[in-house]
Amino acid sequence: PRRVFSGIQPSGGLTLGNYLGAVKPFVAAQESGAEALYCVVDMHAITVWQDPDNLRRRTRELAAFYIAAGLDPERSILFNQSQVAEHAQLAWIFNCVARMGWMGRMTQWKDKAGKNAENASLGLFAYPALMAADILVYHATHVPVGEDQKQHLELTRDVAAKFNHDYGTDFFPMVEPVIEGVATRVMSLRDGTRKMSKSDPSDASRINMTDDADTIAKKLRRAKTDPEPLPDNVEGLKDRPEARNLMNIYAALQDLSLEDAMGQVAGRQFAQFKPLLADVAVDRLAPISAEMRRLMQDADEIDRLLARGAERARAIAAPVLRRTYDIVGMVGG
Ligand code: TYM
Repeated sequence: PRRVFSGIQPSGGLTLGNYLGAVKPFVAAQESGAEALYCVVDMHAITVWQDPDNLRRRTRELAAFYIAAGLDPERSILFNQSQVAEHAQLAWIFNCVARMGWMGRMTQWKDKAGKNAENASLGLFAYPALMAADILVYHATHVPVGEDQKQHLELTRDVAAKFNHDYGTDFFPMVEPVIEGVATRVMSLRDGTRKMSKSDPSDASRINMTDDADTIAKKLRRAKTDPEPLPDNVEGLKDRPEARNLMNIYAALQDLSLEDAMGQVAGRQFAQFKPLLADVAVDRLAPISAEMRRLMQDADEIDRLLARGAERARAIAAPVLRRTYDIVGMVGG
């Protein structure tokens, strides 16, 4: 049976990349009828220091985003990671299975720790072992993510395989990354070769889920492009990263294939295309940000939903952890 798990860090503003690359596919998995768990990974967030009040606010904001974007807290299990202690408990076992060398090769580690690894937290180094635990503590089979998480999911498979091998079992399943569609890597609006990211110093490089309609439209009108009009077909997007990115966004926002989206606007000048794109983006995003703001007015209700989700998550995780402990040789019952 198919069981879906994914998570997002409550560590900064939420972008169009998080929406198109992650939350929209989360909703699609929910709608497909799969059993799905979606987590606010607050324990991952603190691998770099977070102001506690900010962490609380961003945790609730991310929960509000999940719901505003179409996740149903009845059908899907929505919760924050720290409320289900089994994640951290299984992560410890995986810390003892994974190798230092595996962690050292992670590009996210290399990017974030940079040349100053001496000063990075131990948690930042071990981050992927906790991520493997997030997924495997539910025996999840499918994990929808953006392209940048691919390497972490390969490591999750390596951890599962090594655990199974070391203990002579087939207890942990091999997870399948779900990295599909046109928006698995949404790029910066200022540079089509760089990922759209909450940590880019330029706010004009990204659409934030909290941007109002005017700001969204303005950022898209000012997005970097090359001087040529849009090509006649998808092949013509080759070596035109900015044009490709805007077309991918246009397609993803309307649930179209790139070919079909291209068919609508082939040959247009950017001066004509950008207002169309802005309209599509505002139509799609404004209702979500309005609903987020509404939900955020009742923090207690969000906290209740997260607590209820955590309870349901724990019911799945606890027996998996107990069975893991038995396999490893931990006495208890
Ligand atoms: P995070 O919080 O950096 O990002 C959350 C999700 O958003 C996707 N994403 C993008 N997709 C397309 N284009 C972009 N520009 C873009 N920016 C972000 C990410 O690929 C991701 O899917 N390690 C994870 C969180 C995590 C997790 C997990 C995910 C912890 N445990 C277990 C899956 C399963 C992370 O840092 O994502």
